[in-house]
Amino acid sequence: MPITNNDDEVIITSPSNGKTQLKVLKYGATVYSWTVNGKEQLWLSDAAKLDGSKPVRGGIPLVFPVFGKSTDASVSKMPQHGFARRSTWEFLGQTTENPPAVQFGLGPELADQEVYSKWDNGDNDFTLVLTLTLENDSIRTRIDISNPDKKPWKFNWLFHSYLKVDDIEDVLVNNLPGEICYDQVIEESYEEREPAVNFAGELDRIYQNVSTKKLLQVIEMGKVVHNVRRKNLPDVVIWNPWTDKSKGMADFEPKNGYLKMICVEPGYVHDFVTLKPGEKWSGEQIIYKGDAVKMQSV
Ligand code: BG6
Repeated sequence: MPITNNDDEVIITSPSNGKTQLKVLKYGATVYSWTVNGKEQLWLSDAAKLDGSKPVRGGIPLVFPVFGKSTDASVSKMPQHGFARRSTWEFLGQTTENPPAVQFGLGPELADQEVYSKWDNGDNDFTLVLTLTLENDSIRTRIDISNPDKKPWKFNWLFHSYLKVDDIEDVLVNNLPGEICYDQVIEESYEEREPAVNFAGELDRIYQNVSTKKLLQVIEMGKVVHNVRRKNLPDVVIWNPWTDKSKGMADFEPKNGYLKMICVEPGYVHDFVTLKPGEKWSGEQIIYKGDAVKMQSV
């Protein structure tokens, strides 16, 4: 069975390899496991809550309609990262057989009401459709957002992908030199001067307006372990909490788990997207295997 629809989760299995699977919680439409031929690709905390009591620490949580905390009046009362990751989405079914793809939907009636009510006046009408496609050695996560309302509203979107690595101290992320980033650790903006991003402490940077022609590669000991492509998602957040921040997160286990993860998060977060009545917007992330290093200057 390529698609198993359980009460709380949907499991997608590759028709050509039973060990290539995607597991998706309906809570947050959160992908919490992706295996390629039996090998896990995503990091998931041992203490992650998978029961809908809080957003999942790991996998691919969905960030909407605000990234982090914002002073913008439309979202300033909302908790960090908005309500998409804390709402139970509707499973809309399978859309293609091979490669298998499934869809999940979210609108105002299913949204976590406590957080949704803090977006503008609490009455924005919206539709989100998430399409997940499982290929032999890649996943595609696509979001389609539409505004059926009579008024415009604005939002951030971000795929908060936790990628698994063997040892963060051996990891580099390429193709970001020359990009402007806002460094959330030191609260300053600057141009990236390092030939590759490397990790030796807490790192939390928002790279702004990075051409989507640029491939982002997670390289470990000289070998590419993940490739991330983006469509219509110009910003990239790179995050690793390191020791102290991990200690402060109750759902982050083991405490040295930060060594095994890197968040590469494609999004639209530097600015808000404004959607007028009847308008649509979409963005896509493609994570794939493939070991050729590709260095790009543009
Ligand atoms: C990242 C942010 O995207 O998410 C970090 O850049 C933040 O600043 C991290 O700490 C985790 O957020 P949360 O709400 O899941 O703890």
